[in-house]
Amino acid sequence: MTRVEIRFPDAMETSLITLYGIATDARIEPTILGDGMAAEAFEKIDYDFSWLTRFSSPKSVRTKVALRAKHFDAWTAEFLADHERATVLVLGAGLDTRVWRIDPGPGVHWYDVDLPPVIEARGKLYPQRENYRMIAASVADPAWWEEIPTDRPVLVVAQGLVMYLEPAEGHALSRRITDRFPTGAVVLDTHNRLAVRTSNWMLKRRFGSSLMRWAIEDAHELERSNPKLRCTDAISALSPALLGGLPPGAAPRGSELASRMTQLVPPVRDMSLYVRYEIVGA
Ligand SMILES: C[S@@+](CC[C@H](N)C(=O)[O-])C[C@H]1O[C@@H](n2cnc3c(N)ncnc32)[C@H](O)[C@@H]1O
Repeated sequence: MTRVEIRFPDAMETSLITLYGIATDARIEPTILGDGMAAEAFEKIDYDFSWLTRFSSPKSVRTKVALRAKHFDAWTAEFLADHERATVLVLGAGLDTRVWRIDPGPGVHWYDVDLPPVIEARGKLYPQRENYRMIAASVADPAWWEEIPTDRPVLVVAQGLVMYLEPAEGHALSRRITDRFPTGAVVLDTHNRLAVRTSNWMLKRRFGSSLMRWAIEDAHELERSNPKLRCTDAISALSPALLGGLPPGAAPRGSELASRMTQLVPPVRDMSLYVRYEIVGA
């Protein structure tokens, strides 16, 4: 097997944390996501993951990222069930394999966007497919947006991205989306100040700097700065509801009780939110 050597700078390396979690989940029974393709990509990567397990337990990483991916898969599938012709724009796609998990129909044009070193690695790990393009650019770079057709409803997926943006960059991104696409939805996850602070504690030890920059305290913050977004759903990433429907034994023992306790303390409950917005036009 040809190994793919990966040396990502800064926040790009965080895409490996997610891949690690999804790949680890695929190897155990019962699995949450069962993503064999991510597990294969993980096997090909030449990268020392040992630092990660020094900071968090493998069980906790795998449960968190697999549950998050499962939730965003469900939102993506729901959108595509309502919109046979659509554009899916995945911002900060990392090494995510959602397009293969969802396997969209021929009316869907799918774009995965990330910074050039990540897209280069994706090119070595994953095959091409019809109606699918990878874009090597910053989400803040206005140039590539011109290439995305605006004639279909859009689903923008920003999973694990916005906390790495400067707040001004994030607000500009939200305006760029709603100025370009008259209809569709945006799904993203947020970190509040407590989550940014605790994540940066770990990231600083690994990377020497605090990589997370944008703390969002509540799901309506983006609506207040962008009236073309309407929040339709917000769920705590720690909510017991996310554990419902999992096969028995898929989540670590005691996680349901722990998750119920987190909902009693609002700053803990809101550490990370999964939020869905509708694009409503002006
Ligand atoms: C935590 S990873 C999440 C990856 C993927 N969404 C997932 O959930 O597996 C964050 C990703 O955001 C990307 N990223 C950060 N800032 C970016 C920017 N300005 N433009 C494009 N991608 C960015 C990083 O390169 C990294 O791949």
